[in-house]
Amino acid sequence: PTIQPVKKAIIPVAGLGTRMLPATKAIPKELLPVTDKPVIQHVVEEAIAAGINEIILVTRSGKEAIENHFDAHFELETQLERKGKDMVLTSIKDIIPPHVQVISIRQPEALGLGHAILCARRVVGDHPFAVMLPDVLVMPSPAQGRLNDFSNMVNRWNETGQGQIMVEAVPDQEIHQYGIADVGGAEIGIGKTAPLSAMVEKPKQEDAPSNLAVVGRYVLPAKVMQILKDTQPGAGGEIQLTDALDELLKSDSLDAYRMASITHDCGNKLGYLKANIAMGLEHPELADGLKSYIKGLAQID
Ligand code: G1P
Repeated sequence: PTIQPVKKAIIPVAGLGTRMLPATKAIPKELLPVTDKPVIQHVVEEAIAAGINEIILVTRSGKEAIENHFDAHFELETQLERKGKDMVLTSIKDIIPPHVQVISIRQPEALGLGHAILCARRVVGDHPFAVMLPDVLVMPSPAQGRLNDFSNMVNRWNETGQGQIMVEAVPDQEIHQYGIADVGGAEIGIGKTAPLSAMVEKPKQEDAPSNLAVVGRYVLPAKVMQILKDTQPGAGGEIQLTDALDELLKSDSLDAYRMASITHDCGNKLGYLKANIAMGLEHPELADGLKSYIKGLAQID
């Protein structure tokens, strides 16, 4: 059968952002800025760069500002145009290119990541889809030639029709916070894949099949939606995407893709600060100033 290319990406944004309080009391955590763009804009740009043309936000009440960010803002655009502020105007007008559409779906109850994904089933239909967790900021590493992992995963699907799950080795004491991949002990090279044999959500360190954590980028076959309909609550009493993928592995194959990038978890305070520094150091307008500030600080201690 011919392989359908991946064109849809689900970005679940219905979380309450409790780890980022008080900052996220009135502002969705996805809109907190990393340098001069909201976290979620970085993720949407990553999706578009990989050829995605349908962004599906799974959202909730109180988070309408996310949709506004990706919509036109007539009054602001008119003002900027009148004042001749062309650069800024472009930066707010061209976030979503004309060939890309942003769709939003509500998740009425916080029943877990698997449930959030299932809320998008009618929009996904029988197409393959990506899942991108917006807390995770993926920065291509200069040491790895700035290899773009998500594009790589999408290309692999488009060539092979194999689902791709991005993984990264984590320290043993962090294993219990993640979905963990069983690759039968295989060593996976950076930017390479190995077949998955099982997946387990947030295992105890002593029960974990490896230290390879699922880090928030997935390319999946449509069949996952069918499985999610019957997936029972798992770890934390939530319907887990990891459990549905483990079930899928009984009939289908999936690849673990070992990432080459550096990730920052912007869903916690320290990770968020680090992301700002790391991205600031690569920002064309901010890098020099930030670098000399950090050098100055480093001399004090
Ligand atoms: C979710 C997934 C988990 C994954 C993690 C990555 O967990 O359920 O499998 O490893 O994201 O950030 P959460 O962080 O929402 O508890």
